Amino acid sequence: MPALNPDDAKRLAAATALDLVSSGMRLGLGTGSTAAHFVSLLGERVAAGLDVLCVPTSERTRIQAEELSIPLSTLDETPELDLTVDGADEFDANLRLIKGGGGALLREKIVATASRRMVVITDSSKFVETLGKFPLPVEVNLFGIEATRRMIARAAAGCGCSGEIRLRQGADAEPYLTDNGHYLFDCRFGSIIDPNGLALALRAVPGVVEHGLFIGIAAAVISAGPSGVDVFG
Ligand code: 5RP
Repeated sequence: MPALNPDDAKRLAAATALDLVSSGMRLGLGTGSTAAHFVSLLGERVAAGLDVLCVPTSERTRIQAEELSIPLSTLDETPELDLTVDGADEFDANLRLIKGGGGALLREKIVATASRRMVVITDSSKFVETLGKFPLPVEVNLFGIEATRRMIARAAAGCGCSGEIRLRQGADAEPYLTDNGHYLFDCRFGSIIDPNGLALALRAVPGVVEHGLFIGIAAAVISAGPSGVDVFG
């Protein structure tokens, strides 16, 4: 079998997750390149008659799903979901995740926790022994941004964190605005020895709207790589 490139692996993980979907389900649709594979494959199934109702986790995903004529709802109209399928930037053996590389962590966390089950789809390079190599995205209110930055640094004291405001791609050097009108700090830890403690400390900072540590939320991770598909959880 020829070696899978990372994008093929993402699509394989997405195709595997599609087996969990059946007619009548209410689904949360994640954000990012792996989730986009899932949405694209789901669109093919919907065109062939699958009956689902979906809540997207970002404007980007909403637009993609609309283009594929996938029936959409909102969490206000459909506050309880059966299954959310989403990607991740890192996962560990305890199904703890870092998410938010695509900037959608707040809606992703709300949608995932409104679901009976969250299943993560990734390529195998996202597995880590210890979370934190990928910079942890932290979504913050625009008010008092410098004060919040210092409070985050204090909350993460001992973890060696340095946070930078995420900028929009391109040359204008403007801060990236989330779908919710907030900024993101990308916090470089190197390794996060105590993810649970860090999650609590970040939640205690008033300017922090949400952070990208997903702990106790994912029920399973479908990870695809050169050796095939592994399911964790
Ligand atoms: C978006 C996310 C994505 O799921 C995460 O960044 C993984 O992205 P990709 O599938 O493109 O590797 O959390 O906010």
